[in-house]
Amino acid sequence: GKGEYDHFMLKEIYEQGTSLSQAIEGRIDHEAGDVALESFPPGTFEGIERVQFVACGTSYHAALYGSIAMNCAGVQTSAHLANEYGVSAPPVDEDTLVIAVTQSGETADTLSAMRQAAADGARLLTVTNVVGSTAARLADDTLLIRAGPEIGVAATKTFSSQAVMLLLLAQRVTGDVVGEQRANLEALLEDVSALPETIESVLEDDDSRDLAETYLDSQSFFFIGRGLGFPVALEGALKFKEITYEHAEGFASGELKHGPLALVTPETPVFAIFTGEEDEKVLNNAEEAQTRGAPVIAVCPEGHRALNVADAHLEIPDVDPDLAGLLANVQLQLVSYHAANALGRPIDKPRNLAKSVTVE
Ligand code: F6R
Repeated sequence: GKGEYDHFMLKEIYEQGTSLSQAIEGRIDHEAGDVALESFPPGTFEGIERVQFVACGTSYHAALYGSIAMNCAGVQTSAHLANEYGVSAPPVDEDTLVIAVTQSGETADTLSAMRQAAADGARLLTVTNVVGSTAARLADDTLLIRAGPEIGVAATKTFSSQAVMLLLLAQRVTGDVVGEQRANLEALLEDVSALPETIESVLEDDDSRDLAETYLDSQSFFFIGRGLGFPVALEGALKFKEITYEHAEGFASGELKHGPLALVTPETPVFAIFTGEEDEKVLNNAEEAQTRGAPVIAVCPEGHRALNVADAHLEIPDVDPDLAGLLANVQLQLVSYHAANALGRPIDKPRNLAKSVTVE
């Protein structure tokens, strides 16, 4: 049941400390300073030359997160919407690892992309929440996110677990494919271990309700980010439109000036995500929107220079840039929830949507 919570979505947002602990349990070896993925010992991905991600919706945003992380570490990656894969994917061969990210393991678009990749000889891995799902049966290998059942149609706790598992998997793939681990891997793994507690601290200090209500009468809600902040911007906007029924869009912050800026007015609040990487550029992009009258809500640590400019603040702890976006995402989940709640929306079952989409 929902217990003390009004909605499953809120319960699941608050479960993220627990679901992440479950996800990472036994999967980090601090003594060795390495990931400890049972089915994926060092050498598992030797011979792989490129990685393609396929997924839909929120899982696509997690896939993009993983893709950017692997890419930055020197692995050739690309992320594809599973429903576009059939018409737009680059060719695969037996040196291609295709990673299908799917909470349910039953999304028809994703299964279809997996079947196509397998037919072309790719090696298939799925990151899923459901043991024995169709995706798990199709794939050569499965990495379970162990988030527990998710009842709310809007994916929340499964996104954070997918992203973190992909970050861990990225370390193994990088080690095997590039031949060396990233610098400061130990520090990242420390921060990953602490992430459940860090997320709890964000949830305990939730003060986003007033903020959500302040901007509720706006025409449109924009979310901008760069690098790992970009998938989080996309995810922030998807969650917002899904449960509030208000128009929302996520952009790569640098793209604002290439068109979307024409939409910016005092009626279009801009949530700007700062991960600690190239924040100066994100801040410039946010200021361009603010100059056109848009309120800017900075999602960043306390004391961040964006706060000299921003109209409002959603605070996140200061962590490794690989993880900051996940904390920003928790704040954005809360904003969407409070906005939808104030509007009286049926949060757990938004109109026209289903938890598992089994048609193409
Ligand atoms: C959004 C949402 C959907 C799913 C998408 C893929 O909140 O839940 O966008 O992420 O339908 O579903 P899975 O992950 O089950 O393949």
